Amino acid sequence: MPFRTIIEPFRIKTVEPIRHTTRAQREFALKTAHYNLFLLKAQDVLIDLLTDSGTGAMSSAQWAGMMQGDESYAGATSFYRFEQAVKEITHLAHVIPTHQGRAAERILFGSLLKPGDIVPNNTHFDTTRANVEYRKATALDIPIPEARDPQLEHPFKGNIDLEALEKVLQENPGRVPLAMITVTNNSGGGQPVSMANIREASRICHRHGVPLFLDACRFAENAWFIKLREEGYQEKTPREIAQEMFSYVDGCTMSAKKDGLANIGGFLAMNDGELAQRCKNMLILTEGFPTYGGLAGYDLEAIAVGLHEVLDEDYLRYRIRSVAYIGEELIRDGIPIVRPPGGHAIYIDAKAMLPHIPQHEYPAWALSLVLYLEGGVRTAEIGSVMFGQQPDGTEKPAPMELVRLAFPRRTYTQSHADYLVEVLLHVNGLKDRIRGVRIVEAPPTLRHFTAKMAPAHGSLVAKE
Ligand code: F0G
Repeated sequence: MPFRTIIEPFRIKTVEPIRHTTRAQREFALKTAHYNLFLLKAQDVLIDLLTDSGTGAMSSAQWAGMMQGDESYAGATSFYRFEQAVKEITHLAHVIPTHQGRAAERILFGSLLKPGDIVPNNTHFDTTRANVEYRKATALDIPIPEARDPQLEHPFKGNIDLEALEKVLQENPGRVPLAMITVTNNSGGGQPVSMANIREASRICHRHGVPLFLDACRFAENAWFIKLREEGYQEKTPREIAQEMFSYVDGCTMSAKKDGLANIGGFLAMNDGELAQRCKNMLILTEGFPTYGGLAGYDLEAIAVGLHEVLDEDYLRYRIRSVAYIGEELIRDGIPIVRPPGGHAIYIDAKAMLPHIPQHEYPAWALSLVLYLEGGVRTAEIGSVMFGQQPDGTEKPAPMELVRLAFPRRTYTQSHADYLVEVLLHVNGLKDRIRGVRIVEAPPTLRHFTAKMAPAHGSLVAKE
């Protein structure tokens, strides 16, 4: 191709207006939302990068598929289409639909874990960790050491530490009912995991008789990184790469709100028939019959089509490139981000950007509030508000203080990206005046969703 520009590989058929607000309006909105961006009204947000989960645009083929939704309570045609789409990629024997990823986690852990167990993972996502801990088991994060240094470049910074995995399994026989690998590693910066790492982790687990599960939320983005960066995969299609990734594991949990390109849905899949039966029994108790699992027939159709579209090369090239573009602009402007840029998100290293704010005043949370105040952009803290609260009620600072800019799929365009870079530059210009925040009130678990916060020193941005 003689042209360099990678364009959005779609044209727009339906539009949804977004609303500009004034700084004064946003100041008021923040106060009303107790300085917690989760408590804002979406209509007060201009560019919403809170999450890439369920926020993407569906294609015309997905909407057309939804019209064919079979809403039969049991044995719906839509279930079989969905099941086939999942099996074509994963080759896993039993596919159980759930309303989203965390339902798959709860059902899996509810069927497998007992108090005192340990679940190793490269890095648990917050709901995964919470669901493990809810069973009184330990969620153990063992990413490779390189993952802890935000500025360090590594092609597969999402890898699990194989030595640490071997050690946990050796030292805790009978206490590790499963190990997990999260692709891509969301809480660790949206970084990919290499095929070699998955293959070797699988070998180690199987030598110890422990099943390995993928948290497969962003499996297609991970497959694309393997194609770009791992020796021997350049000529393979994303589908072939994904199939190989799944060939090493015994099961997976999945949120179809990410690489299912759907607005809701998820699944649990595995080879162990006896475990699948136990999971289905629990599914019936809280989600629904095993051929719909809490979803409408039309949701299953949207996911079936989405799983096909997400492996399209033009889509993946555009997806990964457009996130990298923003990352490169920020690096050029001296804004510290987790390097290299992740698949679905850019993570700003708030500890490096705001060294004057101590961790107990939550620098990443403060930065996310200022990004909204100044530019109407909503992001998410992945730092000590999210991870600082320990199961025993004590507080421990998180290893990193990150602000995540997560990009909904097929939703924003290049000019939104350029606006965003401008906002970040502007905020970087006033970084020395940004002040910390404090917790006013918080629930005992997953506090970031509902905590009431306040500026620790009167205002978020000190006067000049
Ligand atoms: N695992 C990972 C790696 C995730 O990123 C998420 C969700 C889940 C599991 C749970 O899936 O939301 O469908 O229940 N992540 C979203 C995010 C919420 O913003 O990163 P869910």
